Order: sequence, then C-alpha cells, then structure tokens
Amino acid sequence: MSTLHVNGREHAVNLDPSTPILWTLRDTLGMTGTKFGCGAALCGACTVHLDGQAIRSCVTPISAAQGAKITTIEAVTDGKDRVGAAVHAAWVKHDVAQCGYCQSGQIMSATAFLKSLPRGKQPSAAEIDTAMAGNICRCGTYARIRAAVADAAKALA
Ligand code: FES
Ligand code: FES
Repeated sequence: MSTLHVNGREHAVNLDPSTPILWTLRDTLGMTGTKFGCGAALCGACTVHLDGQAIRSCVTPISAAQGAKITTIEAVTDGKDRVGAAVHAAWVKHDVAQCGYCQSGQIMSATAFLKSLPRGKQPSAAEIDTAMAGNICRCGTYARIRAAVADAAKALA
C-alpha cells in the first residue's frame, strides 16, 4: 500500500510501487487532467509538480512520491493558487490552446517556472523559451505560450 498526497488530500493506493504517477492519477484516482503523450519523458504532456518541481509523471513511479506533495492541473486551475490563476487567465486571454492536448502540461511547466522566479521578476523571451523547452506542442502554439507566460509574470508583479 502506498500513500499519495495529491492536491492537499491523501490517497491510499494498492499498486506496485513502480506504477507511474500518471497512470495512478488517471486510472486509479480518476484525475484525467494530466495527459499521456509519449510515455518516455519526451513531450511534457504529463507534467505535474512534485514538491513544487515540474516532473514527468509518465516516468516517475509512485515510490518516488512517498512523503512528497503532488500537485496536478486540477489544483493549479481551481482559482485558489495565485500563480496558477494568473497563468490560467493569461492562457484564456491569449487563446493559447489549439487542440489542447499538450496544454495542461504547458500550464504546469509555466506555473512551476513562474513560482521559481523572485517576486516581481519579468522573464525574458529567451528565459521563457528555455523554461518551456521540454513541452512539445504539435499545434505550434509556442508564440502564444510565450506571450501568455510574459503576461502572467506581469500580472503577478
Ligand atoms: S507523456 Fe510524459 S513526457 Fe510525454
Ligand atoms: S495545442 Fe495541440 S498539441 Fe499543443
């Protein structure tokens, strides 16, 4: 039995400790906001936060999350997280999503990035691109992502 702390709640799960966090969230806990893209740490669609760090849940086993806090897109976009709310609003304002498949991972990476910055810092376009480089968008929404992240940083200043 493993215990997962997800979005402020504890869940006891009877799974092999090597089970990826992604499938535990989606199949066992019914939290389908986190997406499966490549399953090989290459695309970022499955990004969640583990103790505030953006990680690839498709290759991270639940054994690595014991005693740690997992945060998913469901909590980042529920309006209660200051940075998540700013990112969410900027995403809507810039109409970032196209097919949408990559977008929960994009928002999770953007939120972790903005939380890592000193309060009030405005990231350059190059810094945003570097922070978001691990998240692939097959629809090519990169320019809107960059604008939305910059806008969210301004709103948070
Ligand atoms: S599904 Fe995890 S990085 Fe692509
Ligand atoms: S919006 Fe379609 S993959 Fe990014």
